[in-house]
Amino acid sequence: MTTGIIEKLEDVTPNVLGAMSGAESARLRTVMESFVRHIHAFAQEVKLTEAEYDLGIEFLNRIGQATHDSHNEGILFADAIGFSTLVCLLNNGNDGATETAAALLGPFWRANSPRTANGGSIVRSTTPGPELFVACEIVDVAGKPIAGAEVDVWQSSPVGLYENQDDTQADMNLRGKFTTDAAGRFSFRSVKPAGYPVPTDGPVGDLLRAQNRHPYRPAHIHFLGFKQGYKTLITQVFVDDDEHLETDVVFGVTRALVGDYRRIDAGEPPAPSVQAPWYTLNYRFVMEAGEAVLPKPPIK
Ligand code: BEZ
Ligand code: FE
Repeated sequence: MTTGIIEKLEDVTPNVLGAMSGAESARLRTVMESFVRHIHAFAQEVKLTEAEYDLGIEFLNRIGQATHDSHNEGILFADAIGFSTLVCLLNNGNDGATETAAALLGPFWRANSPRTANGGSIVRSTTPGPELFVACEIVDVAGKPIAGAEVDVWQSSPVGLYENQDDTQADMNLRGKFTTDAAGRFSFRSVKPAGYPVPTDGPVGDLLRAQNRHPYRPAHIHFLGFKQGYKTLITQVFVDDDEHLETDVVFGVTRALVGDYRRIDAGEPPAPSVQAPWYTLNYRFVMEAGEAVLPKPPIK
């Protein structure tokens, strides 16, 4: 019996599946049928109480209420339960087996980063901290340079804040858009990013506290590589000496993404007036052939 009056507990799931079976989209049928089967099984497995059900619904509502133009609590929740990383690795790099693993987008990518010439600076307002010189190349899976790829870069400041979280930084500080040259290279000047806590003033913060988890991400720079004919590469390169490398609150660190942020204490500075110590980062990204699709920006 899959439709009609519910006679007993066991009737609920088949009734719901039956009611949803008319969806025209086969993919919608597959996804929603599986979702309903799993969430019903979850409630039965933990024998969810009505108070817990109410708490869960309130939690969902609070996620929506906490989301606005400059903050996305929904993505933060998916990140904090490892769901973003799971979906990311499921869809990129042979389940994470290729040289460059992708990493979660996070909630801070903005469209329309300022176009910046190779070698230029993404420091757009005074930002104290150790200077950083980044030189990267992008190749295809055969190792051939990819010229003309557009690369968005965004990072936190040396005190661990993105410009959209910090009134002391200029709009678009520590963000830039580069184009790879004929050798597939792009480079820029910046400051060393710091690790930071994810926002904890909403329901996700309550969850982290209830689970005795720290809210920190290890320091990193975000990269988004885009070129027609290639799968959009969304990733992050982590600072290798960060204390939270092994306990990233959003589970984004893979081995391939730990960068070699090298501290230089002496010698010829890479540009005039650079004070020691400065840092360098060289990194090689691999882009796979595929569809170039840009994600929806999580914030404006
Ligand atoms: C980020 O890397 O920007 C980020 C990712 C997940 C949650 C919060 C921030
Ligand atoms: Fe980040």
